[in-house]
Amino acid sequence: MRILGLVGSARRMGNTEVLVTEVARAASALPPSVPPLDASRVPADTAEAGAAKADADTPGIVRLVRLSELRLLVCNGCMACAFRGDGQCPLQDDMEFLLAEMEAADAFILGAPTYTLLPPAPVKAWADRFIMALAREKKSAPKPAVVVGVAALVDWSRHLLPILNGLVMAYGFRLVDSMIAYAPGPAEVLLEHQNVSRATAAGRKLRLALAGQDLRPDFGPGRCPVCGSDLFRIVDSVVECGVCMAKGKLVDQVATFESRPAHRWEPEALRHHFHDWIRASGPSYLAKRPEVRRLQRAYRLNKPWWIRPPGDG
Ligand SMILES: Cc1cc2nc3c(=O)[nH]c(=O)nc-3n(C[C@H](O)[C@H](O)[C@H](O)COP(=O)(O)O)c2cc1C
Repeated sequence: MRILGLVGSARRMGNTEVLVTEVARAASALPPSVPPLDASRVPADTAEAGAAKADADTPGIVRLVRLSELRLLVCNGCMACAFRGDGQCPLQDDMEFLLAEMEAADAFILGAPTYTLLPPAPVKAWADRFIMALAREKKSAPKPAVVVGVAALVDWSRHLLPILNGLVMAYGFRLVDSMIAYAPGPAEVLLEHQNVSRATAAGRKLRLALAGQDLRPDFGPGRCPVCGSDLFRIVDSVVECGVCMAKGKLVDQVATFESRPAHRWEPEALRHHFHDWIRASGPSYLAKRPEVRRLQRAYRLNKPWWIRPPGDG
């Protein structure tokens, strides 16, 4: 069994890393790194020694990757991955390594902090390459995944989990649980034990999903049941999730959905988007290209306006 955790924060041993670690530990039935509250009489160094021994006894089960340590280039929009049809990207970086790790994993954990309302740049760099994965034939049924978000403030992080949840589904995983913890300073989440126990609960759910149970997150009432968002577009009395397009109704002023509404991240919907929109846009663009090129020519005049930092060749 292999559990892959992607850590989207550059802070070593920061909040994201700590919680992803705890989800992974529980998913692989390892004891938590810190003693649970009811065992607070266990000295911390005894607990640490126990955790370290358990890790050493189970090599290779948990594999963690810090996205900020990888060389992930920015997608340049060439669309070769889609139009060649094989999902190969001309950029030479660590994306193939990452896709191979994701393919080989039996379960997946994605963790990220909130930076300016959204996940930070390395997560977006990874997210923007998802057409590579979309273009490749899926060799297995969707594997279970857990999302871990971290933020300083509730009102400054409402987009984080819905976006991370959607990304996990876009990459072909099935979401089993999704959690967020609030703390600004590095590893400060550890001061509230409920953060660790929530991560442990998510890891246990991942473990049950690995054993074949059909588990999903419970986002509660008034939220999109697919991605957990509470940011909706309302047209007449139809409520549409702003992230995953699941549709529901306003009932007594509360957004109300069927338990499994259709949404954009479903494998069939993604296949349709890839073949009938992304790939179809290639030939339709080629037919229009002579006219586009003619109109484009005028923009060459702007060349002298471009500036670069001093010393940049
Ligand atoms: C550049 C930067 C931008 C941030 N922007 C937000 C934000 O928009 N909303 C929020 O709730 N927290 C924000 N935070 C706080 C982080 O989400 C918080 O510190 C988090 O615990 C970091 O997790 P980490 O320790 O795993 O890196 C920001 C932090 C940094 C460094």
